[in-house]
Amino acid sequence: MLKIGALAIEFPTVLAPMAGLTDRVLRQLTDEIGGCGLLVSEMIAAEGLRRRNRRTLEMIAGPPRPTRAPQFIQLFGADPEALAEAAAIVSAETGYAGIDINMGCPVPKVVRSGAGSGLLRDLPRLGAVVAAVRRSTRLPLTVKVRLGFSQVNVLETTKIIEQEGADAVAVHFRLKSDGYTGSARWELAAAVRANLRIPLLGNGDIMTLAFALEKMKSVDGVLIGRGALANPFIFREIAGQETGEKDWGGYVRRLAALIAEHYPERKRLGKLKAFTRFLVLSRPGTRAWKKRRTSPRRAAFSRRPSR
Ligand SMILES: Cc1cc2nc3c(=O)[nH]c(=O)nc-3n(C[C@H](O)[C@H](O)[C@H](O)COP(=O)(O)O)c2cc1C
Repeated sequence: MLKIGALAIEFPTVLAPMAGLTDRVLRQLTDEIGGCGLLVSEMIAAEGLRRRNRRTLEMIAGPPRPTRAPQFIQLFGADPEALAEAAAIVSAETGYAGIDINMGCPVPKVVRSGAGSGLLRDLPRLGAVVAAVRRSTRLPLTVKVRLGFSQVNVLETTKIIEQEGADAVAVHFRLKSDGYTGSARWELAAAVRANLRIPLLGNGDIMTLAFALEKMKSVDGVLIGRGALANPFIFREIAGQETGEKDWGGYVRRLAALIAEHYPERKRLGKLKAFTRFLVLSRPGTRAWKKRRTSPRRAAFSRRPSR
């Protein structure tokens, strides 16, 4: 069992935060399927929450039904006071079980503002952010980082995060400068873990049960992002729970029903496409098929009358 602060978590697996994807629909459905220990929201702007921006409040509006697994809100921002105020709002006014701080986002606009992975190259600010949020909330607090900005400094960052009072740290084993390219460098997990007293959660490229079980030996828990979209049954598999004949049709139908419940009509197809994109790409042969279908030469060829 994984413990984050006072919170005991049944399974050492986490649905990784993904902007535009880990909304209440995907969190609820992942929870319904079962086997996942913790669900993390999309990244939420601390400034937006502090100002009670209508769209931000909509994004964090509580899940319609309580989930079995606890749910955390992920906040992003560069100003320690804004993050602290946002964390206080989450604690006092929502039912979320904990807070995660984003220190990994590589999106240029976010990095330029000093937030996301921008914090990995400003260690005084990184420490001030964790300290301010720690002071403002008693909820379990985690921080998600990358290995570093353009150079590995994960031993330093995770130590500061621990010293400033976080309850666990999640590491995506890539640099900011890697984006999503190359392979996650899991070989660094052992050194990071040996340097910490709080739990270490590892993240990056977990797509299969075998890969997950292998990597779980070197960390206290794992975050799974794209792999959970490609195979929504992966948490059950890791938990050793029966998956039977995986009911892909049932999964997509339930997804569509939850989308219809929570989104206006004009947004529904886009949402369904976003959620199912990885599902389709993970099927054998579909990558090649998609490439053939979308190549301009192929498209031109297919317009010729057949003989
Ligand atoms: C579409 C997409 C959106 C993401 N949004 C976030 C986010 O909001 N916050 C965050 O910390 N990480 C975000 N990530 C990174 C993931 O949480 C995770 O670190 C990364 O995808 C590597 O893990 P994976 O190989 O299991 O997907 C995002 C990733 C993807 C693919």
